[in-house]
Amino acid sequence: MAGNLGYDWIVGGSLPELGRHSAAKHEIFDAYVGAYIRTLTKSHRTRALNLTIVDGFCGGGRYTLDGGQVDGSPLRMLAAVDRVRAEVAAARTLGIAINVDFVFVDANRNHIDFLRDLLESEGHGSRIGRDIHILTSKFEEVSGDVIARIQARGRAHRSLFFLDQYGWSSVTFATIRKIMAALQNPEVVLTFMVDHLVNLLNDRMIDTAGLAAVDLGRSDVQDMLQMKQMRGWKRFIQNTLYEHIQRNTGADYYTPFFIHPEGGSNRDYWLLHLSKHHSAREEMGKIHWGMENTFEHFGRAGFNSLGFNPSEDVRKDMLDFGFNDNARTRSENAVVDQLARMLHARAAAGKGPLTKKELFASHCNEAPVIGEIVDAALVELRKAQDVIITGKDGALRRSVKTFAWDDEIKVSREPGLFSVFDQRAA
Ligand SMILES: C[S@@+](CC[C@H](N)C(=O)[O-])C[C@H]1O[C@@H](n2cnc3c(N)ncnc32)[C@H](O)[C@@H]1O
Repeated sequence: MAGNLGYDWIVGGSLPELGRHSAAKHEIFDAYVGAYIRTLTKSHRTRALNLTIVDGFCGGGRYTLDGGQVDGSPLRMLAAVDRVRAEVAAARTLGIAINVDFVFVDANRNHIDFLRDLLESEGHGSRIGRDIHILTSKFEEVSGDVIARIQARGRAHRSLFFLDQYGWSSVTFATIRKIMAALQNPEVVLTFMVDHLVNLLNDRMIDTAGLAAVDLGRSDVQDMLQMKQMRGWKRFIQNTLYEHIQRNTGADYYTPFFIHPEGGSNRDYWLLHLSKHHSAREEMGKIHWGMENTFEHFGRAGFNSLGFNPSEDVRKDMLDFGFNDNARTRSENAVVDQLARMLHARAAAGKGPLTKKELFASHCNEAPVIGEIVDAALVELRKAQDVIITGKDGALRRSVKTFAWDDEIKVSREPGLFSVFDQRAA
């Protein structure tokens, strides 16, 4: 897709060519749907899972890539669910009902006609109106109905919203807040063309509908325009926007990842995963690490990667963060270091122990950190006798390498000879 805009489908017409960055995005969607269902069906007590998958900007569903044909997001999601359903059925002798409803929305009638045609030719025709619902509309205009449909399916409201918009203003933050507030377990994967916004930003945009959609008022824009005068302004504005998104979408957990489209880096965009639960953040974080170099995180390694000090050059230490082994090692080292400082400062301030979940919740949103990385850091701090880790029942976690979310971490009164605190926290 040239410059991320303008995929077009018409029945009988030629297929659009899929950009490589979009192929990577499809991999993420597919992997996340699988991981989500696998996680929620893990418990043998679970007899049924009701899930609604909303593809709010679904497109026509088929592309060309490297001379062949590949599926778009709606068909990828259908296939991902079929795959994991078969996998779970094979593993669970007692059986489990995985009831997934799909809602495909697109504002362009031609695209919807194309998708309907494709679904029929792929043998899904009889499902339309049953577990596949197709809506020709702007997502914003049907979001209330979609929420009501999810609410009507039971109390858990398990739902994944893939909002793959062009640009950055077709999904208002008010709608995301509505999704987060009205549903118990919603997750949103939002495409946000951050460079598009940052590059365009000028004072003529103040008070336009686009900026109002993402709750950016006059003073926000003026502040960001002032930043444009500074060294490293782009990262500065991106960080400001990211903080703004965190404050205004009503989600507790975020995973910000950069996508660099091929052929130039000034059209970068974010794939933002917004959720209300740490385990959702964790699963998405794992997928990003699993896909290594496909995505980049845009901060430093470890915790607080986006936190900036106005007196520092924002570029200092800021590395684009490929998800490979080197990045992993950097992240693990950084977390040991930062955990040491953090726990030391807490102890000095007379604060009590904190759980792994609290630790993760207060720091994971800005960083490519996942539970496994925190676990590795805790093992190292325990080995150095800097921390004592106990289970919910008070039992010492002496030798385990994986910790539960409720395990408590406290600073040891008698650090060992090789204390990381002594070396790094002082
Ligand atoms: C980037 S394409 C989607 C591609 C699709 N998610 C995929 O990965 O295969 C964006 C689609 O959003 C549709 N669209 C644009 N504005 C929209 C809106 N406000 N609401 C719903 N769909 C919209 C376009 O017609 C286009 O088909």
